[in-house]
Amino acid sequence: MTLLQVENVGFAYGKGRAVLEDISFDVPRGANVGLVGESGSGKSTLLRLLLGLDSPQRGRILFDGAPLDARDRGYMRGYRRQVQAVFQDPYSSLNPAHRIRRIVTEPLRSLKIPGDHRQMAEAAITSVGLTPDTLDRYPHQFSGGQRQRIAIARAIVARPALLLADEPVSALDLSTRVRVVDLFRQIASDMTMVFVSHDMGVVAALCDRIVVLDRGRIVEAGDTAAILKNPQHPYTQSLLSSIPRMPDAAQPQDPT
Ligand SMILES: Nc1ncnc2c1ncn2[C@@H]1O[C@H](COP(=O)(O)OP(=O)(O)OP(=O)(O)O)[C@@H](O)[C@H]1O
Ligand SMILES: [Mg+2]
Repeated sequence: MTLLQVENVGFAYGKGRAVLEDISFDVPRGANVGLVGESGSGKSTLLRLLLGLDSPQRGRILFDGAPLDARDRGYMRGYRRQVQAVFQDPYSSLNPAHRIRRIVTEPLRSLKIPGDHRQMAEAAITSVGLTPDTLDRYPHQFSGGQRQRIAIARAIVARPALLLADEPVSALDLSTRVRVVDLFRQIASDMTMVFVSHDMGVVAALCDRIVVLDRGRIVEAGDTAAILKNPQHPYTQSLLSSIPRMPDAAQPQDPT
């Protein structure tokens, strides 16, 4: 079953030049799709469209078979329940004035999700490898990697169908990055995910499919194994040559 279909999507900011052109790909339910491409290729813009923060001028996006309409507020309320995101910067993404409990339970309140929010927050924070006492503290008491775990707990607390991640590990130092990639791998095993990165090593460790963007167009797409084995596009080849920068995430690691 296809969860997300992107069909011939084109987008420009204002009256500017096209930032995305004729983008089409499917995300099957349960799949993890990596979106790679160099800076300015349109990865974050595409995620904005998938989040409904902007609407494509051409083409359309289907979620669970229905077209996403960012202008339909009723529809978007339901959509936000299904789709959550994790962003790059673990420092600006958590409100410093709020306790972690309030941060992690925020989607439950804003989406008016019934149930025991305390218990749901504890389950989410434990599932990202942190202890429940984390919930009583403030963001400044945590490292970048721990903050990213908190951001992930917030993203999964409402049990979304789709997790979107925009460079969620690129601000982390290398050893922390390996452990957070490992966490994403655990989470991704029972979730559908679109994971943006310009690091092919991270994407290869996490995703079963890869879409390669270059200047707003898809230049290559397919199964990770096939792309790693036989990259077609020169840009993909150059990305692959940078993989050794990423240590093997499958090696045993110290817990954070
Ligand atoms: N708010 C905006 N207004 C106008 N142009 C924008 C805006 N945001 C991004 N752009 C332009 O759109 C293009 C794609 O940007 P985008 O941020 O999607 O790239 P990216 O692939 O995420 O890059 P990076 O790897 O650096 O995050 C770039 O040329 C960028 O300058
Ligand atoms: Mg970006």
